[in-house]
Amino acid sequence: MSNSPKTMFHVNQQPVQFDGDDKANLLSVLRHELNLSGPKFGCGQGECGACMVLVDGQPQTACNLPVWSVQGRQVTTLEGLGTEQKLHPLQQAFIDEQAAQCGYCLNGMIMMTASLLAHTPEPTELQIRQALSGNLCRCGTHLEIIDAVQRAARLMAQARTAADSATYMP
Ligand code: FES
Repeated sequence: MSNSPKTMFHVNQQPVQFDGDDKANLLSVLRHELNLSGPKFGCGQGECGACMVLVDGQPQTACNLPVWSVQGRQVTTLEGLGTEQKLHPLQQAFIDEQAAQCGYCLNGMIMMTASLLAHTPEPTELQIRQALSGNLCRCGTHLEIIDAVQRAARLMAQARTAADSATYMP
């Protein structure tokens, strides 16, 4: 029987109870216990951004985050941003701009910019570059990635305008 306390948290709005060692890193729990392959293992040291998730809406590297630290918190992974039927605008924009070569960094790029667009709906190119400064891409699709984030921002602005029009009552 494990002596570790149970760790209770939510992943993609579903309650999770983890009974294993609460010092395990969140990335391994997500990938190996919950079968969520969106977050990737890159450096394992919080340096590359491949493993990025949102914790209570804030971007965090999951490889160096002990699972006890997410007790009672909301974790969102790439799988929780959209669905296969309805992709998140960022997911759609990264496809439309073909902003991937090997694609290994895309989890981190998308999770980081999802957080950026939630707080800064119309970011400048400089703000996008600054937001992604800790996310490494070895293939060199940086320009397409910036185009994709700008495209997603436009898609989200159009969706907000459409929603406003739908609720407008003269
Ligand atoms: Fe977590 Fe590189 S794998 S930052």
